[in-house]
Amino acid sequence: MASSYLKPISHVLLGISGGIDCLNSAKLLIQLWKVADRVTVVMTPAAMRMMPADSLRAINSTEVLTDPLTNHMSLPDSIDLFLIAPATANTIAKLSSGIGDNLLTTAAIALSCRRVVAPSMSSNMWENTIVQRNCKFLQDSNFHVIPPTVGTEVLELKECYGAMPNEKILVKLVLKHLRQQNTKEFTAFQP
Ligand SMILES: Cc1cc2nc3c(=O)[nH]c(=O)nc-3n(C[C@H](O)[C@H](O)[C@H](O)COP(=O)(O)O)c2cc1C
Repeated sequence: MASSYLKPISHVLLGISGGIDCLNSAKLLIQLWKVADRVTVVMTPAAMRMMPADSLRAINSTEVLTDPLTNHMSLPDSIDLFLIAPATANTIAKLSSGIGDNLLTTAAIALSCRRVVAPSMSSNMWENTIVQRNCKFLQDSNFHVIPPTVGTEVLELKECYGAMPNEKILVKLVLKHLRQQNTKEFTAFQP
């Protein structure tokens, strides 16, 4: 991995699918810029209905890919981490079936870098046996799944178990995972 001395990730591709946690994507993007030399974003069409791509572009001039038919072969070779957050039940199902019907899902099949998925959904969706099976399958297929936590389900403003960890904790968990992958660059780094 070719990363700078100060930042442990060289180039992260942040995949945003259409969960309500898209509302936190700006905060997550800012946090990722603190630990990566370069951040590129890819959004599903559903995500773009919840979070304007231009808002994310405004953050440190981030490149935001929004055309689902962008050629995945044009994605830079420098990407060393693909973080899909939030990952909807729908996108998780596609990933676990090898479906590539937009740039995010196609990239997940095509990229050979480390892939981390952060599911985000209501408690009922998270407890659904099909979602559980799909996550287990992803875990067994070289995706690292960061389990959701207790949070506020904003659609009904009630507590749920299915929320994505907040951006600081999420990035810490990602770095912890990368560290456990035995990569020397991460050992000394504290975000
Ligand atoms: C307001 C709203 C909030 C949603 N939040 C979630 C969510 O948090 N998690 C989830 O899995 N699906 C959620 N959905 C459903 C997804 O948007 C839907 O399954 C969509 O097809 C996902 O597409 P994508 O996976 O390609 O982004 C929500 C839908 C709406 C209308």
